[in-house]
Amino acid sequence: MTAQVDSLIRGVVDDLPSRINVGVQITPEHYALEKESIWRRAWMSIGHTQDVPNKGSYFVYDIPTFNYSLIVVRGQDDQVRVFHNICRHRGNKLVREPVGTRAGFTCNFHGWSFNTQGDLRLITDVNEFEKLDKKQLSMIPVHTEIWNSLIFINLAKEPHCTLKEWLGEMYGQYDNYFENQEKVASFKAIVNTNWHLAVNAFTEGYHTLYLHKSTARDYQGGKSNPQRHRPHMDFFDRHHRYSAPGNPDKVFVRGEKLAAKYGKLMIPAFDFNFEGLPPGINAAKHDKWAFDVVEFFPNIVMLIGNYWHNEITYWPIDAGRTLITNQAWAYKTKNLGERISRSYFRSRVRDVFREDLNTLEAQQTALSSGMMDEVILSRQEMALRHHFKVSRQMMEGQL
Ligand code: FES
Ligand SMILES: [Fe+2]
Repeated sequence: MTAQVDSLIRGVVDDLPSRINVGVQITPEHYALEKESIWRRAWMSIGHTQDVPNKGSYFVYDIPTFNYSLIVVRGQDDQVRVFHNICRHRGNKLVREPVGTRAGFTCNFHGWSFNTQGDLRLITDVNEFEKLDKKQLSMIPVHTEIWNSLIFINLAKEPHCTLKEWLGEMYGQYDNYFENQEKVASFKAIVNTNWHLAVNAFTEGYHTLYLHKSTARDYQGGKSNPQRHRPHMDFFDRHHRYSAPGNPDKVFVRGEKLAAKYGKLMIPAFDFNFEGLPPGINAAKHDKWAFDVVEFFPNIVMLIGNYWHNEITYWPIDAGRTLITNQAWAYKTKNLGERISRSYFRSRVRDVFREDLNTLEAQQTALSSGMMDEVILSRQEMALRHHFKVSRQMMEGQL
């Protein structure tokens, strides 16, 4: 008999259809409706408080979905805020340098100045204006909440729920995890694909045996789980997560042995000691756990492991193009050996990630032909079924 692992599935799944009309959902008409019902209403993460470490630190964050440019800044009062990157005088882009540290922001068009808390401090040649109330002309704020060092924004006039409500059961389950890691790499790609296809490519493990057969041949599964079934999946109101199975039979190659000797095991040499992880990570306590895949609907997929995590963010540009960013985070190193080890393991993820992007444009073109509206999803692709259920519920205003 072939060895098999039966996935432990928690949450409401009996209403998740195994056939989805994805062909329809990637059309421009459908996307036009999603913009206001999903992207305008969701809480979405745009960075970490670690990205603005000091008073006056800022970065610019562009959201192509709405042509928004945002400024994320730590004010002199130490609070992190998000503003639209637009000058209140005549709408010039206030900040052009993508990242830096400033005492305030001065517009290069006519010299109006704002402090890092967003207050308008100076109107040049003020007497030539009809009476102006500076208090009414602060930088335009964006609804912002912080969760475990992640900066979430909501682009609605008034959010329909709090971030705590939005994250639901996951809210209290990740304490002291993200804060203890640092960013070690990031890159961006614009891919000619619809955002649903882009998110879906990263939220199932079925493909790993085939698409990644060269780059990640022995990273997951092993003799006791040859089909690499996910040991467990959790489905919540809006978000979901599942665990990927490590391979206890993996034979370390020479570089991996060295990296393991001088640093912490990351990927693919998984550390099966989970002490100190918060309850949301490896939530079912699978003993050969490799990492979790978490979809924070609609636009973040995180791969969360022991000592490392990756954050993949998706912003639709239009129905057929998506901006994808990938950030690698890992434990803070104490010495050179750990730094080299960490770099080695980090690089192993890079090629795998490129392969994940590889199918997207082909799938977009083929599905756009209209020849096949429905796709067929297995139990191992349950997260995709859930993703489309949440999409539909958001479009119907149920979430
Ligand atoms: S547009 Fe900014 S000062 Fe005029
Ligand atoms: Fe993959």
